Amino acid sequence: MSTARKILVTSALPYANGSIHLGHLLEHIQTDIWVRYQRLTGNQCIYVCADDTHGTATMLNADKLGISAEDYIKGVRKEHIQDFLDFDISHDNFHSTHSEENEQLLYLIYERLKKAGQISQHDVDQLYDPEKGMFLADRFVSGNCPKCNAVDQPGDNCGACGATYSAMELGEPTSKLSGAAPEVRQSKHFFFKLSEHSDFLNKWTRSGTLQTAVTNKISEWLDQGLQDWDISRDAPYFGFEIPDEPGKYFYVWLDAPIGYMASFQNYCANQTDIEFDDFWKPDSTCEVHHFIGKDIVNFHALFWPAVLTMAGYRTPTSIRVHGMATINGEKMSKSKGTFINARTYLNELSPTYLRYYFAAKLSGGVEDLDINLDDFLQRVNSDLVGKLVNIASRCAGFINKQFDGKLTRQVQCDLLASFSNQQQQIADNYESGEFSKAMRSIMALADMANQFIAEEKPWILIKDPSTKDRAQQVCSDGLNLFRMLMIYLKPVLPDLAQKAEQFLNCGELQWSDLAHHLTDHRINTFEPLLKRIESRSIEAIIDAGKSHEKSAQGATTSKDEAADPVEIDIDTFAQVDLRIARIIQAQVVEGADKLLQLTLDLGDHQRTVFSGIKSAYSAEQLEDKLTVVVANLKARKMKFGISEGMVLAAGPGDKEIFLISPDSGAKPGMKVT
Ligand code: MSP
Ligand code: ZN
Repeated sequence: MSTARKILVTSALPYANGSIHLGHLLEHIQTDIWVRYQRLTGNQCIYVCADDTHGTATMLNADKLGISAEDYIKGVRKEHIQDFLDFDISHDNFHSTHSEENEQLLYLIYERLKKAGQISQHDVDQLYDPEKGMFLADRFVSGNCPKCNAVDQPGDNCGACGATYSAMELGEPTSKLSGAAPEVRQSKHFFFKLSEHSDFLNKWTRSGTLQTAVTNKISEWLDQGLQDWDISRDAPYFGFEIPDEPGKYFYVWLDAPIGYMASFQNYCANQTDIEFDDFWKPDSTCEVHHFIGKDIVNFHALFWPAVLTMAGYRTPTSIRVHGMATINGEKMSKSKGTFINARTYLNELSPTYLRYYFAAKLSGGVEDLDINLDDFLQRVNSDLVGKLVNIASRCAGFINKQFDGKLTRQVQCDLLASFSNQQQQIADNYESGEFSKAMRSIMALADMANQFIAEEKPWILIKDPSTKDRAQQVCSDGLNLFRMLMIYLKPVLPDLAQKAEQFLNCGELQWSDLAHHLTDHRINTFEPLLKRIESRSIEAIIDAGKSHEKSAQGATTSKDEAADPVEIDIDTFAQVDLRIARIIQAQVVEGADKLLQLTLDLGDHQRTVFSGIKSAYSAEQLEDKLTVVVANLKARKMKFGISEGMVLAAGPGDKEIFLISPDSGAKPGMKVT
């Protein structure tokens, strides 16, 4: 008799209008650990996701790049898939909401909602941008606060007095898209009758589907009363059109969660033993779990179960909500260099470290999770390298070299039994999402294993022929302890587990393998499993975060400025200290494609500046040239050193970069006015 559970798991669909960053990864790593734990224990667990492609932002981004929205989302999806793959996220399918499956499911669900009398329509007043020819969501409008009159406030809440309002209430509103003054226009909108589902949602949200903190938050909303939900948007919009309503589109948040089903359906099309309906019919005995961040709870715990029920589908088994990732105690911020993209991290470090760090900090609650980069380095180095990997490297060398790779016929160490006794508790912590508790128990076991080896001292036992057997026993037992730790950690560290399986020569480890040990068995040669994190990797990640953002900003502002330069007064200009400098030395920077390191003579002193002009100049060409330097630019720490200023150059880049040079006769140190 098989008791394996059948489980479908999702992470929220990342928007297709930006790169994957550490916040997304918190969610995907959390989900992936849970999924891998389920699979390790023998359950059938399918993990799907997709890009969330629709909406105004996608359309505007594609416009800016001068490509079609379809081409734009194709490129983004490819990048997203690669990022997740490189973080060892084990999606079974990563689809797109702009897919046939999603369109068909959306239409089917909409038809069923309509038939059930769940759709209403009425006219809505909204701000309209006459220049762009489109209605404006609140976030695309700014103006004067209706409460305190502060100027230039966002379209939904005031930064000065904190009032919340709708963009229609702003004084002197301006469109952020065109700068035009929006006008009020009427348009027909379609609504899902969410207000009819208060009783159902009151029950559903208290039926064990949510964490208590989430249930409590939602009951506040339910107490305030539910409004019907506007599910339509006017053209131009990138999305699916509403049938028989030309110029009307479904709001992205209606088709986005349907994207979970669509991705699963797309996956099922290639499987022989998995049926879509088994998982989604109303009386399904399969499980469906959604992992999401706390910012999108209303969509998942109110709209989604109501829509599913009215459309004749099952509701989710659970919605598992996490808090937001912060970096060094602050919200991820582009200007502070704490907005770290997946690729920026991967360029410096292995995913193993971050996976462990998140696991060590994830509680199963909705608190925010701080990535403190110093703590990250210390914790990972101390736990993974200092404790875990250390056990294997202390034991494997002797077995390889002194005993021809052979483990003893029997195990002897009592610790093995204590390790095995922890399995129910560790399993429970994985199941409930309390990964930090699981990691703490596992690392306590690792401490015990290290203590055992330290007390037995195999490096001394090995020297005396009368105790050499004992050395083999200690190292064999040590490696068996290590093997059990790797089983426990396999959901978190799949890459490390695979390397361990390779050198232990033990096949793919399963949870059930905790029940026996490796005896009378030959292992392979031990290779170092994991290196320490060096602090310069962390510095490089922060620097790259900052400079990526600078170049990204540069790209957009230089474009915008060409069209519409910002006016400044003479005093603002006078704040820039421009000086003549002579390039006395130019050097190639090892490991940097674009940079040259320049030593500048400014008359009374010298300084070092890094400049991205290597594609247009060789080092020799520059030596002895005069140029202009921004002398009071704040010094910037880069991966390769500190840059003390910036030399001026013109041109779009690549071969076309032209260094600004004064006429001969100018002297280093002269002020440029
Ligand atoms: N597209 C919607 C979700 C649709 S699901 C049917 C969306 N996309 S998102 O890209 O903004 O966010 C995707 C997920 O990443 C959300 O669960 C969100 O909470 C999570 N995170 C985004 N930034 C985050 C942090 N800084 N920290 C932790 N999670 C964060 O919302
Ligand atoms: Zn105000």
